[in-house]
Amino acid sequence: MRHRVLVVDDDASVAHVVQFLLEEEGHDATVVADVAGAKRAFADGRFDLVVTDLKLPDGSGLDVLKLVSEASPDVPVIMITAFATVSTAVAAMKSGAFDYVQKPFDNDRFKALVANALRLRDLKLENVRLRDEVADRYGLNAIVGASPQMEKVREMVRLAATSEAAVMVLGETGTGKELVARAIHFLGRWAARPFVAVNCGAIPENLVESELFGHKKGAFTGAVNDRDGRFVQADTGTIFLDEVTEMKRDLQVKLLRVIEAHEVQPVGSTETLKVDVRIISATNRDPMACVRDGEFREDLYYRLNVFALPIPPLREHRQDIPELVGAYLTRRGYGPDAVSKPALELLAEHDFPGNVRELQNVIESGLILSGGKVVQPEHVADRLMPRGGDMTQSSSIGIVSQADASDRVPSAATLAEVERSHLEAALKKTGGNQSQAARLLGISRATLLYRIKRHGLA
Ligand SMILES: Nc1ncnc2c1ncn2[C@@H]1O[C@H](COP(=O)(O)OP(=O)(O)OP(=O)(O)O)[C@@H](O)[C@H]1O
Ligand SMILES: [Mg+2]
Repeated sequence: MRHRVLVVDDDASVAHVVQFLLEEEGHDATVVADVAGAKRAFADGRFDLVVTDLKLPDGSGLDVLKLVSEASPDVPVIMITAFATVSTAVAAMKSGAFDYVQKPFDNDRFKALVANALRLRDLKLENVRLRDEVADRYGLNAIVGASPQMEKVREMVRLAATSEAAVMVLGETGTGKELVARAIHFLGRWAARPFVAVNCGAIPENLVESELFGHKKGAFTGAVNDRDGRFVQADTGTIFLDEVTEMKRDLQVKLLRVIEAHEVQPVGSTETLKVDVRIISATNRDPMACVRDGEFREDLYYRLNVFALPIPPLREHRQDIPELVGAYLTRRGYGPDAVSKPALELLAEHDFPGNVRELQNVIESGLILSGGKVVQPEHVADRLMPRGGDMTQSSSIGIVSQADASDRVPSAATLAEVERSHLEAALKKTGGNQSQAARLLGISRATLLYRIKRHGLA
């Protein structure tokens, strides 16, 4: 790769050789004769490497070094020195020079030195780029919304990132619980360590234990090898226990033991493994209600909820909708005008029971329906309507208010049709969250699942 190198030397013959060697390697070399020249060059341009003589007419290579370390600390500096001044060169290394070469120098060794210095420079640049990228994707910047409510969320994330306490993120479906969990991890000193997310509600019941704690070969049918559990994978980092309230009670006991003893016992193993993990959990249910209902152990609840981080539903900070739309468009590679103002106004009025995720889905479908043109109200209106019993209404444009929807009499609908539309409405209202929908309908989750299946809604 072509790099820009600044050569500082008042001895024209040495400068010429250095320039020649650099250009032979495909780099651009700019030659100046003194500290003042170096200063001007640095003010004017960007360099990847500086090669400087130690003795200069108006100062020394150390002055150049100081200049560079102030202007761009990531740019390596190579010193050229005569035999007599090696001790000064060593001093230069101590104050941050990359390396030095002694005159007269070996051309190949000089080239190798340049290559090493530039490799280091590239690595540093890459590091900075990755850090910025991680910060953009997972840091506070990723949590969009200038409302006081979201400002508060960011403040809590900042606080949580400075502590090791167990954090419980609370919020409805699609409010950004995972986003927040990642931000806590990536802001803290764990950033370079593993972040392992486990959805406790999504793993089949008989596999959760092995998923979390690992297993020994032969521990059960299908366990053909030893396997690390998620806790071991997350060792020294963060484990994110999503939908933690969905965990069965017998597993809750085991989790409690892991938290207290800092060790896990893989399924089928008699040994335990030490683990040091920071726990962030999340739930879209009211965990205290789960404790009252006897679904969730109280002792575990207090262990996990040392620091509670509630995220407000989108309907409580609707003023953030335009910004969220903008951020989503950017993420998808669209300009800010891809959604028209009237469409945006329509979006900003909606309740979004599925919160930010639902908002994103509505934009996504709007982008498709608009056929690559600007998204207009009619491209999003259908998705924003509360779904009532009378489905013929759904093709009309405009928004049906909640009152209209509930006042509508389900004319000539069979009981099955009414049930179906009720199920759909509940699922829509909760953004597809089955536990919440079940509670809304006053039936158990199992009953809900059965009925979803019967109506072919899954
Ligand atoms: N404040 C926000 N700023 C930007 N994007 C957000 C914000 N909140 C949520 N999102 C986005 O919305 C989507 C859903 O977020 P996330 O998965 O973190 O929600 P969740 O609360 O974990 O949902 P669920 O309960 O369904 O698991 C993601 O694409 C996320 O990036
Ligand atoms: Mg989630």
